[in-house]
Amino acid sequence: MDNRRVVLVERPTGLVEASHFAVETVELPALEEGQVRVEVSHVSVDAFIRTTLGGGGFHGQAGMREPVMALGVGKVVESAAAELAVGDWITGATMAQSVAQGPAAMFQKIEIGNQPPSMFLGLLGVTTGLTAYAGMVRVGGVKAGDTVVVSGAAGAVGTVACQLAKHSGAKVIGIAGGPEKTKWLTDTIGIDGAIDYKAPDVGGQLDALAPDGVDLYFDNVGGELLDMVLDRIRMEARVVLCGAISQYNNMEEVRGPKLYLRIAERNAQMLGFTVFHYEKEYAAFTKQILEWMDNGLQLPEQIEEGIDAFPNALNKMFVGGHMGKLLVKP
Ligand SMILES: NC(=O)c1ccc[n+]([C@@H]2O[C@H](COP(=O)([O-])OP(=O)(O)OC[C@H]3O[C@@H](n4cnc5c(N)ncnc54)[C@H](OP(=O)(O)O)[C@@H]3O)[C@@H](O)[C@H]2O)c1
Repeated sequence: MDNRRVVLVERPTGLVEASHFAVETVELPALEEGQVRVEVSHVSVDAFIRTTLGGGGFHGQAGMREPVMALGVGKVVESAAAELAVGDWITGATMAQSVAQGPAAMFQKIEIGNQPPSMFLGLLGVTTGLTAYAGMVRVGGVKAGDTVVVSGAAGAVGTVACQLAKHSGAKVIGIAGGPEKTKWLTDTIGIDGAIDYKAPDVGGQLDALAPDGVDLYFDNVGGELLDMVLDRIRMEARVVLCGAISQYNNMEEVRGPKLYLRIAERNAQMLGFTVFHYEKEYAAFTKQILEWMDNGLQLPEQIEEGIDAFPNALNKMFVGGHMGKLLVKP
């Protein structure tokens, strides 16, 4: 059986481009004892992938000419392992390729029932729905009456985080790039206000929407926007560091916040988290998300066709080329 896969051929130093990758077809060897072969149904396009392409860090370093790291969902088509049978669905580190092959222990079996498989990377996905839940509810402790700001609001984690805050009774303001995204956030996702960070006077836009300041900031972006919000936090505010996508293209010189003294001045807290540290609570988070889905929680998906589209899809994460959850269907 052939596998079409995306491999790294040049380490990007700035914005990731298609030229940093090659897409190649390879023949797969026969299965070894304990291995399974998985036809990948969807690949998740995640911001952390960018951090693996340079010098390496928390999520490891991609090897040259090796398949690029990515989470996926797929169906077992051949098995030499007792744990997984042909027809089972799995999720895990399938990598950016059309067929994943390896020890069954690499993958986690999922019961998809009548749900679309992509949902296990989106609303029920570890790096999307569960991340939004961990950050907004578990770490941020969102509560009714809070004024909440979410950056990267029209992306995957942001869209879910906004709605979790809204469902909790908070006033929710999203930050995103461009009028199409801000309109989508208010009209389709249903939050209270949205700020276009590419338009002038971003601070003034926030002052108009949150004149009394911000109780909870769910930050996906870092950089200048973090300082802009830090300057407007209220007493006892919580600032949740989910990610800092504005910094991932240059991890050697990450820009820290200049206005971090606001945390001390306003008795506030800055709390970081990584979803993988909450593995024991995934089942509880999932149960709650499923309940909220019955009450309208949604995550629109943008699906790019063919694994050859993966490099451009990764680029879109950094130039703002999608709304909701970005996926590739190999
Ligand atoms: N803590 C954890 O465990 C955990 C787990 C998963 C993800 N994350 C983090 O969550 C964040 C969102 O991830 P995601 O997968 O859901 O991605 P996403 O939000 O779907 O896509 C990234 C978005 O970031 C925005 N963006 C890119 N560069 C920007 C910049 N320089 N300034 C402002 N906005 C920028 C883009 O939207 P615009 O058009 O609005 O610019 C883009 O749509 C990332 O920071 C990621 O690292 C954290």
